[in-house]
Amino acid sequence: MTTTTQLRDHALEVLRENDRGSYTVPTKGLYPFQWNWDSCLTALGQSRYDEGRAWTEIETLFAHQWPDGMVPHIVFHVYSDGYFPGPDVWATGRPTPTSGITQPPVAGFAVRRLYDRATDKAEAARRARALLPLIDRWHSWFYEMRDPDGEGLVAILHPWEAGRDNSIDWDEAFERVPTEGIDPYVRRDTQHADPAHRPTKAQYDRYLWLVQLFRSLGWDNAKLHAASPFKVVDPGFNAILIRSATDLAALADELGMPEIAERNRNWAATGLEALDSLWSARYGQYVCRDRATGALVDSASIGGLLPVFAAVPQARAHEVARTIERWAEKVQFLIPSHSPEDPRFEAKRYWRAPAWLVMNYMIVDGLRAAGETEVADHIVRSSLELITQSGFAEYYDPLTGEPCGGGRFTWTAAMVMEFLEAA
Ligand code: GLC
Repeated sequence: MTTTTQLRDHALEVLRENDRGSYTVPTKGLYPFQWNWDSCLTALGQSRYDEGRAWTEIETLFAHQWPDGMVPHIVFHVYSDGYFPGPDVWATGRPTPTSGITQPPVAGFAVRRLYDRATDKAEAARRARALLPLIDRWHSWFYEMRDPDGEGLVAILHPWEAGRDNSIDWDEAFERVPTEGIDPYVRRDTQHADPAHRPTKAQYDRYLWLVQLFRSLGWDNAKLHAASPFKVVDPGFNAILIRSATDLAALADELGMPEIAERNRNWAATGLEALDSLWSARYGQYVCRDRATGALVDSASIGGLLPVFAAVPQARAHEVARTIERWAEKVQFLIPSHSPEDPRFEAKRYWRAPAWLVMNYMIVDGLRAAGETEVADHIVRSSLELITQSGFAEYYDPLTGEPCGGGRFTWTAAMVMEFLEAA
Protein backbone atom coordinates (compact mmCIF):
# COMPACT_ATOMS: atom_id res chain seq x y z
CA MET A 1 0.00 0.00 0.00
CA THR A 2 1.23 3.49 -0.85
CA THR A 3 1.60 5.73 2.19
CA THR A 4 1.16 9.49 2.29
CA THR A 5 4.91 9.89 2.78
CA GLN A 6 5.63 7.81 -0.31
CA LEU A 7 3.20 9.87 -2.38
CA ARG A 8 4.77 13.11 -1.17
CA ASP A 9 8.29 11.84 -1.85
CA HIS A 10 7.26 10.79 -5.31
CA ALA A 11 5.66 14.18 -6.01
CA LEU A 12 8.84 15.91 -4.85
CA GLU A 13 10.92 13.70 -7.13
CA VAL A 14 8.77 14.67 -10.16
CA LEU A 15 8.94 18.37 -9.29
CA ARG A 16 12.73 18.27 -8.89
CA GLU A 17 13.25 16.26 -12.04
CA ASN A 18 11.41 18.87 -14.14
CA ASP A 19 13.01 21.87 -12.39
CA ARG A 20 15.30 23.82 -14.72
CA GLY A 21 16.57 26.21 -12.03
CA SER A 22 14.42 29.28 -12.55
CA TYR A 23 11.42 27.64 -14.23
CA THR A 24 9.90 24.16 -14.40
CA VAL A 25 8.95 22.27 -17.56
CA PRO A 26 5.51 20.58 -17.48
CA THR A 27 7.20 17.29 -18.38
CA LYS A 28 10.32 16.23 -20.21
CA GLY A 29 9.95 15.53 -23.94
CA LEU A 30 6.35 16.52 -24.61
CA TYR A 31 6.63 20.06 -23.15
CA PRO A 32 10.27 21.26 -22.91
CA PHE A 33 9.63 24.97 -22.08
CA GLN A 34 7.82 27.12 -19.50
CA TRP A 35 4.01 27.25 -19.61
CA ASN A 36 2.12 30.12 -17.99
CA TRP A 37 -0.55 28.61 -15.75
CA ASP A 38 1.45 25.43 -15.20
CA SER A 39 4.11 27.58 -13.54
CA CYS A 40 1.71 29.52 -11.33
CA LEU A 41 0.04 26.36 -10.04
CA THR A 42 3.37 24.55 -9.76
CA ALA A 43 4.68 27.34 -7.51
CA LEU A 44 2.05 26.33 -4.93
CA GLY A 45 3.53 22.83 -4.71
CA GLN A 46 7.07 24.23 -4.64
CA SER A 47 6.20 26.54 -1.75
CA ARG A 48 5.67 23.43 0.39
CA TYR A 49 9.40 22.69 0.37
CA ASP A 50 11.16 25.86 -0.89
CA GLU A 51 9.37 29.22 -0.66
CA GLY A 52 12.10 31.15 -2.45
CA ARG A 53 12.02 28.77 -5.40
CA ALA A 54 8.24 29.17 -5.67
CA TRP A 55 8.50 32.97 -6.04
CA THR A 56 11.23 32.54 -8.66
CA GLU A 57 8.93 30.36 -10.78
CA ILE A 58 6.40 33.21 -11.14
CA GLU A 59 9.05 35.95 -11.41
CA THR A 60 10.65 34.14 -14.36
CA LEU A 61 7.31 34.01 -16.13
CA PHE A 62 6.67 37.73 -15.61
CA ALA A 63 10.16 38.62 -16.80
CA HIS A 64 8.77 37.75 -20.24
CA GLN A 65 5.61 39.85 -20.06
CA TRP A 66 4.99 41.76 -23.29
CA PRO A 67 5.24 45.56 -23.40
CA ASP A 68 1.44 45.71 -23.91
CA GLY A 69 0.88 43.76 -20.66
CA MET A 70 0.14 40.29 -22.02
CA VAL A 71 1.83 37.35 -20.32
CA PRO A 72 2.46 34.70 -23.00
CA HIS A 73 1.36 31.09 -22.70
CA ILE A 74 4.79 29.64 -23.49
CA VAL A 75 8.29 31.01 -22.92
CA PHE A 76 10.82 29.22 -25.12
CA HIS A 77 13.84 29.57 -22.82
CA VAL A 78 15.97 27.03 -24.66
CA TYR A 79 16.10 25.59 -28.15
CA SER A 80 14.33 22.27 -28.66
CA ASP A 81 13.08 20.71 -31.86
CA GLY A 82 10.86 18.31 -29.92
CA TYR A 83 7.89 20.68 -29.81
CA PHE A 84 5.56 22.06 -32.45
CA PRO A 85 4.66 24.89 -33.02
CA GLY A 86 8.00 26.31 -31.95
CA PRO A 87 9.37 29.89 -32.00
CA ASP A 88 9.71 30.05 -35.81
CA VAL A 89 6.00 29.44 -36.29
CA TRP A 90 4.95 31.98 -33.68
CA ALA A 91 7.52 34.56 -34.87
CA THR A 92 6.56 37.03 -32.16
CA GLY A 93 9.91 38.84 -32.28
CA ARG A 94 10.39 38.79 -28.50
CA PRO A 95 14.00 38.90 -27.15
CA THR A 96 13.48 35.46 -25.59
CA PRO A 97 11.01 33.79 -27.96
CA THR A 98 7.48 33.34 -26.65
CA SER A 99 4.15 32.26 -28.08
CA GLY A 100 1.75 35.07 -29.02
CA ILE A 101 -1.33 34.11 -27.01
CA THR A 102 -2.03 33.93 -23.29
CA GLN A 103 -3.40 31.41 -20.76
CA PRO A 104 -5.74 31.42 -17.72
CA PRO A 105 -4.55 34.23 -15.39
CA VAL A 106 -4.14 32.26 -12.20
CA ALA A 107 -1.09 34.30 -11.04
CA GLY A 108 -3.06 36.66 -8.77
CA PHE A 109 -4.53 33.74 -6.88
CA ALA A 110 -1.16 31.95 -6.65
CA VAL A 111 0.73 34.98 -5.41
CA ARG A 112 -1.74 35.67 -2.64
CA ARG A 113 -1.53 32.07 -1.55
CA LEU A 114 2.28 32.15 -1.55
CA TYR A 115 2.18 35.30 0.55
CA ASP A 116 -0.40 33.96 3.01
CA ARG A 117 1.53 30.81 3.74
CA ALA A 118 5.00 32.41 3.74
CA THR A 119 7.09 31.84 6.84
CA ASP A 120 9.43 34.73 5.95
CA LYS A 121 6.79 37.49 5.62
CA ALA A 122 9.22 40.35 4.97
CA GLU A 123 10.81 38.53 2.06
CA ALA A 124 7.38 37.48 0.72
CA ALA A 125 6.15 41.08 0.94
CA ARG A 126 9.19 42.30 -0.98
CA ARG A 127 8.65 39.80 -3.78
CA ALA A 128 4.88 40.27 -3.87
CA ARG A 129 5.25 44.06 -4.08
CA ALA A 130 7.35 43.68 -7.20
CA LEU A 131 4.91 41.25 -8.83
CA LEU A 132 1.64 43.02 -8.02
CA PRO A 133 1.97 45.86 -10.58
CA LEU A 134 2.87 43.33 -13.29
CA ILE A 135 -0.14 41.14 -12.58
CA ASP A 136 -2.31 44.26 -12.44
CA ARG A 137 -1.06 45.24 -15.91
CA TRP A 138 -1.91 41.81 -17.23
CA HIS A 139 -5.45 42.08 -15.84
CA SER A 140 -5.75 45.54 -17.36
CA TRP A 141 -4.60 44.12 -20.72
CA PHE A 142 -7.41 41.59 -20.58
CA TYR A 143 -10.14 44.18 -20.08
CA GLU A 144 -8.71 46.46 -22.74
CA MET A 145 -7.96 43.89 -25.44
CA ARG A 146 -10.41 41.08 -24.75
CA ASP A 147 -13.44 43.03 -23.59
CA PRO A 148 -13.51 45.98 -25.98
CA ASP A 149 -17.23 46.62 -25.42
CA GLY A 150 -16.93 46.60 -21.64
CA GLU A 151 -19.18 43.59 -20.96
CA GLY A 152 -17.18 42.69 -17.86
CA LEU A 153 -16.20 39.32 -19.35
CA VAL A 154 -13.18 38.59 -21.55
CA ALA A 155 -12.96 36.39 -24.65
CA ILE A 156 -10.32 33.88 -25.62
CA LEU A 157 -9.21 34.02 -29.25
CA HIS A 158 -7.59 30.59 -29.43
CA PRO A 159 -8.59 27.32 -27.71
CA TRP A 160 -5.04 27.02 -26.33
CA GLU A 161 -5.66 30.19 -24.33
CA ALA A 162 -8.35 28.41 -22.31
CA GLY A 163 -5.83 25.76 -21.30
CA ARG A 164 -8.53 23.24 -22.31
CA ASP A 165 -7.20 22.79 -25.81
CA ASN A 166 -9.71 20.52 -27.56
CA SER A 167 -12.77 20.91 -25.34
CA ILE A 168 -16.16 20.21 -26.93
CA ASP A 169 -16.91 23.84 -25.98
CA TRP A 170 -15.00 25.04 -29.05
CA ASP A 171 -16.37 22.64 -31.68
CA GLU A 172 -19.14 24.84 -33.00
CA ALA A 173 -17.20 28.10 -33.10
CA PHE A 174 -14.27 26.23 -34.60
CA GLU A 175 -16.37 25.33 -37.65
CA ARG A 176 -15.94 28.96 -38.64
CA VAL A 177 -12.15 28.66 -38.75
CA PRO A 178 -10.89 27.59 -42.19
CA THR A 179 -8.53 24.66 -42.68
CA GLU A 180 -7.02 25.75 -46.02
CA GLY A 181 -3.90 27.79 -46.61
CA ILE A 182 -1.88 26.41 -43.72
CA ASP A 183 1.87 26.01 -44.12
CA PRO A 184 2.85 22.31 -44.16
CA TYR A 185 3.70 21.01 -40.68
CA VAL A 186 4.59 17.92 -38.67
CA ARG A 187 3.04 17.50 -35.23
CA ARG A 188 5.29 16.51 -32.35
CA ASP A 189 2.76 15.79 -29.60
CA THR A 190 1.63 12.57 -31.28
CA GLN A 191 5.25 11.34 -31.26
CA HIS A 192 5.35 11.58 -27.46
CA ALA A 193 1.80 10.47 -26.65
CA ASP A 194 -0.88 8.18 -28.09
CA PRO A 195 -2.59 9.96 -31.05
CA ALA A 196 -5.95 8.56 -29.90
CA HIS A 197 -5.59 10.63 -26.71
CA ARG A 198 -4.74 13.88 -28.54
CA PRO A 199 -6.63 16.49 -30.62
CA THR A 200 -7.53 15.45 -34.18
CA LYS A 201 -5.83 16.68 -37.37
CA ALA A 202 -8.78 18.92 -38.33
CA GLN A 203 -8.51 20.60 -34.93
CA TYR A 204 -4.77 21.02 -35.29
CA ASP A 205 -5.18 22.61 -38.72
CA ARG A 206 -7.49 25.19 -37.19
CA TYR A 207 -5.18 25.88 -34.25
CA LEU A 208 -2.51 26.73 -36.82
CA TRP A 209 -4.79 28.74 -39.07
CA LEU A 210 -5.47 31.08 -36.15
CA VAL A 211 -1.76 31.34 -35.31
CA GLN A 212 -1.06 32.27 -38.94
CA LEU A 213 -3.80 34.90 -38.93
CA PHE A 214 -2.51 36.53 -35.75
CA ARG A 215 1.07 36.39 -37.02
CA SER A 216 -0.02 38.12 -40.26
CA LEU A 217 -1.40 40.94 -38.08
CA GLY A 218 1.99 41.36 -36.41
CA TRP A 219 0.64 40.10 -33.06
CA ASP A 220 -0.93 43.50 -32.55
CA ASN A 221 -3.43 42.78 -29.80
CA ALA A 222 -5.39 45.91 -30.62
CA LYS A 223 -6.38 44.18 -33.90
CA LEU A 224 -6.79 40.54 -32.96
CA HIS A 225 -10.16 40.57 -31.17
CA ALA A 226 -11.95 42.15 -34.13
CA ALA A 227 -10.14 40.00 -36.69
CA SER A 228 -10.51 36.58 -35.12
CA PRO A 229 -13.35 34.33 -36.36
CA PHE A 230 -12.96 32.48 -33.05
CA LYS A 231 -13.86 34.42 -29.89
CA VAL A 232 -15.47 32.65 -27.00
CA VAL A 233 -16.35 33.78 -23.49
CA ASP A 234 -15.37 30.86 -21.27
CA PRO A 235 -16.91 30.86 -17.77
CA GLY A 236 -13.94 28.97 -16.31
CA PHE A 237 -11.37 31.35 -17.74
CA ASN A 238 -13.35 34.35 -16.52
CA ALA A 239 -13.78 32.82 -13.07
CA ILE A 240 -10.02 32.46 -12.79
CA LEU A 241 -9.55 36.10 -13.79
CA ILE A 242 -12.20 37.24 -11.30
CA ARG A 243 -10.69 35.16 -8.50
CA SER A 244 -7.21 36.50 -9.28
CA ALA A 245 -8.48 40.08 -9.34
CA THR A 246 -10.19 39.52 -5.97
CA ASP A 247 -7.03 38.03 -4.48
CA LEU A 248 -4.82 40.71 -5.97
CA ALA A 249 -7.06 43.38 -4.46
CA ALA A 250 -6.89 41.78 -1.00
CA LEU A 251 -3.12 41.46 -1.16
CA ALA A 252 -2.69 44.99 -2.52
CA ASP A 253 -4.70 46.29 0.45
CA GLU A 254 -2.47 44.43 2.83
CA LEU A 255 0.70 45.70 1.17
CA GLY A 256 -0.45 49.32 0.96
CA MET A 257 -1.13 49.54 -2.80
CA PRO A 258 -4.64 51.05 -2.79
CA GLU A 259 -4.93 51.87 -6.52
CA ILE A 260 -4.23 48.31 -7.56
CA ALA A 261 -6.68 47.14 -4.92
CA GLU A 262 -9.48 49.36 -6.10
CA ARG A 263 -9.08 48.62 -9.80
CA ASN A 264 -9.04 44.89 -9.28
CA ARG A 265 -11.96 44.93 -6.87
CA ASN A 266 -14.01 46.73 -9.49
CA TRP A 267 -13.11 44.28 -12.23
CA ALA A 268 -14.02 41.38 -9.97
CA ALA A 269 -17.39 42.90 -9.00
CA THR A 270 -18.37 43.67 -12.60
CA GLY A 271 -17.16 40.26 -13.75
CA LEU A 272 -19.11 38.37 -11.10
CA GLU A 273 -22.29 40.11 -12.07
CA ALA A 274 -21.77 39.47 -15.78
CA LEU A 275 -20.83 35.83 -15.18
CA ASP A 276 -24.39 35.07 -14.21
CA SER A 277 -25.49 35.64 -17.81
CA LEU A 278 -23.69 32.35 -18.61
CA TRP A 279 -25.79 30.26 -16.20
CA SER A 280 -27.66 27.33 -17.75
CA ALA A 281 -30.61 26.13 -15.67
CA ARG A 282 -30.91 23.14 -17.98
CA TYR A 283 -27.41 21.84 -17.16
CA GLY A 284 -27.15 23.15 -13.59
CA GLN A 285 -23.87 24.87 -14.45
CA TYR A 286 -22.38 27.68 -16.51
CA VAL A 287 -21.73 27.45 -20.28
CA CYS A 288 -19.68 29.43 -22.82
CA ARG A 289 -20.95 32.28 -24.95
CA ASP A 290 -19.85 32.52 -28.57
CA ARG A 291 -19.02 36.20 -28.86
CA ALA A 292 -19.15 36.09 -32.68
CA THR A 293 -22.85 35.09 -32.64
CA GLY A 294 -23.90 36.09 -29.12
CA ALA A 295 -25.37 32.63 -28.51
CA LEU A 296 -24.77 30.39 -25.51
CA VAL A 297 -22.86 27.22 -26.44
CA ASP A 298 -24.69 23.92 -25.93
CA SER A 299 -21.85 22.13 -24.16
CA ALA A 300 -21.64 21.14 -20.48
CA SER A 301 -17.93 21.03 -19.73
CA ILE A 302 -15.78 21.42 -16.64
CA GLY A 303 -15.21 25.05 -17.67
CA GLY A 304 -18.78 25.61 -16.53
CA LEU A 305 -18.11 24.12 -13.07
CA LEU A 306 -15.01 26.20 -12.47
CA PRO A 307 -16.90 29.42 -11.61
CA VAL A 308 -17.20 28.14 -8.02
CA PHE A 309 -13.52 29.18 -7.83
CA ALA A 310 -14.82 32.77 -7.90
CA ALA A 311 -17.28 33.99 -5.27
CA VAL A 312 -20.44 33.10 -7.21
CA PRO A 313 -23.75 33.15 -5.27
CA GLN A 314 -24.13 30.27 -2.81
CA ALA A 315 -27.15 28.90 -4.69
CA ARG A 316 -25.10 28.59 -7.89
CA ALA A 317 -22.24 26.83 -6.09
CA HIS A 318 -24.79 24.49 -4.54
CA GLU A 319 -26.24 23.62 -7.96
CA VAL A 320 -22.76 23.02 -9.39
CA ALA A 321 -22.03 20.65 -6.50
CA ARG A 322 -25.23 18.69 -7.32
CA THR A 323 -24.17 18.51 -10.97
CA ILE A 324 -20.81 17.03 -9.94
CA GLU A 325 -22.64 14.45 -7.80
CA ARG A 326 -24.78 13.53 -10.80
CA TRP A 327 -21.71 13.13 -13.00
CA ALA A 328 -20.09 11.03 -10.25
CA GLU A 329 -22.74 8.37 -10.71
CA LYS A 330 -21.58 7.84 -14.29
CA VAL A 331 -17.78 7.76 -13.82
CA GLN A 332 -15.38 6.08 -11.45
CA PHE A 333 -13.05 9.04 -10.96
CA LEU A 334 -13.72 12.76 -10.56
CA ILE A 335 -13.95 15.22 -12.21
CA PRO A 336 -14.43 14.38 -15.88
CA SER A 337 -13.67 17.43 -18.04
CA HIS A 338 -16.95 16.97 -19.87
CA SER A 339 -20.43 15.85 -18.91
CA PRO A 340 -20.74 12.04 -19.06
CA GLU A 341 -24.39 12.67 -19.96
CA ASP A 342 -23.29 14.06 -23.34
CA PRO A 343 -22.83 11.57 -26.24
CA ARG A 344 -19.79 13.58 -27.37
CA PHE A 345 -17.91 12.47 -24.21
CA GLU A 346 -14.62 10.72 -25.21
CA ALA A 347 -13.06 9.09 -22.14
CA LYS A 348 -9.43 9.22 -23.23
CA ARG A 349 -9.23 12.27 -25.48
CA TYR A 350 -7.48 15.10 -23.68
CA TRP A 351 -10.08 17.72 -22.63
CA ARG A 352 -13.14 15.89 -24.00
CA ALA A 353 -13.71 13.82 -20.80
CA PRO A 354 -10.44 12.99 -19.01
CA ALA A 355 -9.86 14.18 -15.43
CA TRP A 356 -7.12 16.75 -14.68
CA LEU A 357 -5.85 17.37 -11.16
CA VAL A 358 -5.46 21.15 -11.59
CA MET A 359 -9.16 21.46 -12.31
CA ASN A 360 -9.96 19.33 -9.28
CA TYR A 361 -7.81 21.58 -7.11
CA MET A 362 -9.47 24.86 -8.12
CA ILE A 363 -12.98 23.42 -7.94
CA VAL A 364 -12.31 21.89 -4.51
CA ASP A 365 -11.07 25.26 -3.29
CA GLY A 366 -14.28 26.93 -4.44
CA LEU A 367 -16.59 24.20 -3.12
CA ARG A 368 -14.99 24.36 0.33
CA ALA A 369 -15.43 28.12 0.45
CA ALA A 370 -19.10 27.60 -0.42
CA GLY A 371 -19.51 24.99 2.35
CA GLU A 372 -19.87 22.04 -0.06
CA THR A 373 -17.47 19.94 1.99
CA GLU A 374 -18.73 16.48 1.13
CA VAL A 375 -18.35 16.85 -2.62
CA ALA A 376 -14.98 18.54 -2.10
CA ASP A 377 -13.75 15.61 0.02
CA HIS A 378 -14.98 13.18 -2.59
CA ILE A 379 -12.94 14.97 -5.30
CA VAL A 380 -9.79 14.96 -3.16
CA ARG A 381 -10.18 11.23 -2.42
CA SER A 382 -10.68 10.52 -6.09
CA SER A 383 -7.59 12.57 -7.02
CA LEU A 384 -5.35 10.69 -4.60
CA GLU A 385 -6.77 7.35 -5.73
CA LEU A 386 -5.91 8.24 -9.32
CA ILE A 387 -2.31 8.99 -8.36
CA THR A 388 -1.95 5.86 -6.26
CA GLN A 389 -3.36 3.68 -9.01
CA SER A 390 -1.89 5.36 -12.09
CA GLY A 391 1.03 7.61 -11.14
CA PHE A 392 1.63 11.28 -11.93
CA ALA A 393 0.11 11.41 -15.41
CA GLU A 394 -0.94 14.43 -17.45
CA TYR A 395 -4.62 13.38 -17.33
CA TYR A 396 -6.73 10.28 -16.64
CA ASP A 397 -9.59 8.32 -18.18
CA PRO A 398 -12.40 8.99 -15.66
CA LEU A 399 -14.07 5.63 -16.36
CA THR A 400 -11.04 3.41 -15.71
CA GLY A 401 -8.38 5.66 -14.18
CA GLU A 402 -5.97 4.82 -17.01
CA PRO A 403 -3.08 7.33 -17.17
CA CYS A 404 -3.04 9.32 -20.44
CA GLY A 405 -0.80 11.84 -22.21
CA GLY A 406 2.63 12.62 -20.79
CA GLY A 407 3.99 10.94 -17.66
CA ARG A 408 5.76 12.33 -14.56
CA PHE A 409 3.86 15.56 -14.87
CA THR A 410 4.82 18.68 -12.91
CA TRP A 411 1.50 20.31 -12.10
CA THR A 412 -0.06 16.95 -11.24
CA ALA A 413 2.75 16.49 -8.70
CA ALA A 414 2.27 20.04 -7.39
CA MET A 415 -1.44 19.42 -6.86
CA VAL A 416 -0.72 16.19 -5.01
CA MET A 417 1.52 18.15 -2.63
CA GLU A 418 -1.36 20.54 -2.11
CA PHE A 419 -3.97 17.85 -1.52
CA LEU A 420 -1.71 16.00 0.93
CA GLU A 421 -0.89 19.12 2.93
CA ALA A 422 -4.53 20.09 3.18
CA ALA A 423 -5.70 16.57 4.15
C1 GLC B 1 -1.64 21.31 -22.70
C2 GLC B 1 -2.78 21.69 -21.79
C3 GLC B 1 -2.51 23.06 -21.20
C4 GLC B 1 -1.17 23.04 -20.48
C5 GLC B 1 -0.04 22.53 -21.40
C6 GLC B 1 1.26 22.27 -20.64
O1 GLC B 1 -1.55 22.15 -23.80
O2 GLC B 1 -3.99 21.67 -22.47
O3 GLC B 1 -3.53 23.44 -20.31
O4 GLC B 1 -0.84 24.31 -20.01
O5 GLC B 1 -0.43 21.32 -21.99
O6 GLC B 1 1.07 21.39 -19.59
